[in-house]
Amino acid sequence: MTWLSVVATALWAMLPAYVPNNAAVLAGGGRPIDGGRSWGGRRILGDGKTWRGTAAGTAAGTALALVLDALAPAVSDVLGVTLPEFPIVVAVTLAVGAMLGDVAASFVKRRLDRERGAPVPGLDQLDFVVGSLVVTAVAAPGWFVDTFTLPVLAVVIVATPLLHVSTNAIAYGLGLKDEPY
Ligand code: CTP
Ligand code: MG
Repeated sequence: MTWLSVVATALWAMLPAYVPNNAAVLAGGGRPIDGGRSWGGRRILGDGKTWRGTAAGTAAGTALALVLDALAPAVSDVLGVTLPEFPIVVAVTLAVGAMLGDVAASFVKRRLDRERGAPVPGLDQLDFVVGSLVVTAVAAPGWFVDTFTLPVLAVVIVATPLLHVSTNAIAYGLGLKDEPY
C-alpha cells in the first residue's frame, strides 16, 4: 500500500463515522434518551443525548456510506487507489457504532461528575471512532480486517482528533454548537 492509499482508505472508511456527530448537533433536541432520569445522583446520560439527534446521526452516516459506494469507482479511478466499498451492514454499523460510542462517553462523563458539555479531552475525540470500529469489527470481521490494516488504523487514530477539533471549532464559529470542542 502506498501512503496515498493508506490515507485515502482511512479517511474514506471513517467518513460514515464522522458525519453522525455533526448531524446529531444539527438535528438534536427533544426528548433525552435517559428520559431525564438519574442514577446515583447524576443524570444517566444527560440532555445532550437525544433520540432525535441519535436517529438523525445514524441515518446521515448510513446514507453517506451508500452515497460513497456509488462514488467509489469514479474516485478510485481519479486517485489511482482502490477505495473500500461499504456492504449495507457496514454502512449501518459505522454510523450506529459512532453514536453508541458517543452515548457511552456521556455515560462515563456523568459518572465522573462532568456536566453536559464539559470537555474530556481524548474521550470526546475518540469515543465515536472506538464505537464505530468495535461495532463494525464485531458485525463484519472479514471486511474490518481487510479494510483497517495497521497503517490505516494508525492514520485513523492520529487524523480523527485533528478533524474532530477543527470541525467542532467551525460549528462553534457558525453558532451551531455551544462549545468549541
Ligand atoms: N446531540 C444529540 N444526540 C446525540 C448526540 C448529540 O441530540 N446522540 C446533540 C445535542 O444537542 C448535544 C449536541 O448535539 O448537546 C452536541 O453533542 P455532544 O458534544 O456529543 O454533547 P454535549 O452537549 O457536549 O453533552 P456530553 O457532555 O454528554 O457529551
Ligand atoms: Mg460535547
